[in-house]
Amino acid sequence: MTTLCDREALKRSWHPVARSADVGGPLAVRLLGEDLVVWRDPTGTVVAARDRCTHREAPLSAGTAERGCLTCPYHGWTFGEAGRCVSVPSASPGVPVPPKAHLVTLPVEERYGLIWTALETPDRPIVDMPWDRDPSFRRINTPVEVWTTSVTRMTDNFCDMTHFPFVHTGTFGKGQDPFVPKFDLGPLPDGFHGFTFEVMAYNESAGTAASGQDEDRVHRVMTTGFSLPFTVRSTIRYDTGLEHILLLLGTPIDDVTSYFTFVVWRNDDFSVPADEVIALDMAIGAEDKAMLEQVKGVLPLDQTSLASVQADKCSVEWRRQFAEMLATG
Ligand code: FES
Ligand code: CO
Repeated sequence: MTTLCDREALKRSWHPVARSADVGGPLAVRLLGEDLVVWRDPTGTVVAARDRCTHREAPLSAGTAERGCLTCPYHGWTFGEAGRCVSVPSASPGVPVPPKAHLVTLPVEERYGLIWTALETPDRPIVDMPWDRDPSFRRINTPVEVWTTSVTRMTDNFCDMTHFPFVHTGTFGKGQDPFVPKFDLGPLPDGFHGFTFEVMAYNESAGTAASGQDEDRVHRVMTTGFSLPFTVRSTIRYDTGLEHILLLLGTPIDDVTSYFTFVVWRNDDFSVPADEVIALDMAIGAEDKAMLEQVKGVLPLDQTSLASVQADKCSVEWRRQFAEMLATG
């Protein structure tokens, strides 16, 4: 049984744990089996720390925040900028707080509308999404969901297009040709690794808002690739010039439970409401979730225990690189 939670390489990786819009007062999140609290300090900067008060280990996420100062629910110790303890109500005024009262904070970055954190200093940056700096694209964030499946299963799935005509029958995969022509796998821009392919996507009601077209079927050129450990980017180009970029993000809550969220960038005229634009992607995500929650345990990471075919080579390559990343610590 592969255990992800104690892997050093994963502790040293950035993981998205919450949407920026959802973080103000204290929020409990879980990463690699560790309970964490995230909140915005008096400067508006997001702080992440273990969800344990330095006094008697009460969960700080159960506390309250006022103007960025987080007060523990147990004895009222209060933590301000960068997690520094600023008040101990039971101590005499003027007596300095004990040095161990300050929280040991975790690395935090706020990027693409998400809060990213790591249990140890990350050894590689968060993926670069150049569309985020391009004013002709808008960004749409989606809620962070909890999926009862391993993040390894999710990443494998996001690299895989052979499930489209079987899992996505309620959305774009209906009636799609299941045959996958030979394709080349290799480095993509911005540090991703993947491939380009074409599909004739079924263009039903929610699909028309996403594609901006009314035809029954629309031609999509898709480039899908991964960035270790669990980030998958899928760029969709329609013949009209519309580009729809998806960043699919899985985070290990523990071995078999994961956060899922995705971010969309698109160069439309911004006239269609965001909810309508992403309704198709939300429905596609629900189809993947329903399938993956039936697949138990962590994906076997060795290359011999599962059968694969040529069409699986992107997910096989992700698995190979991921296993190597874990092995080299
Ligand atoms: Fe937090 Fe005592 S446990 S103030
Ligand atoms: Co899918």
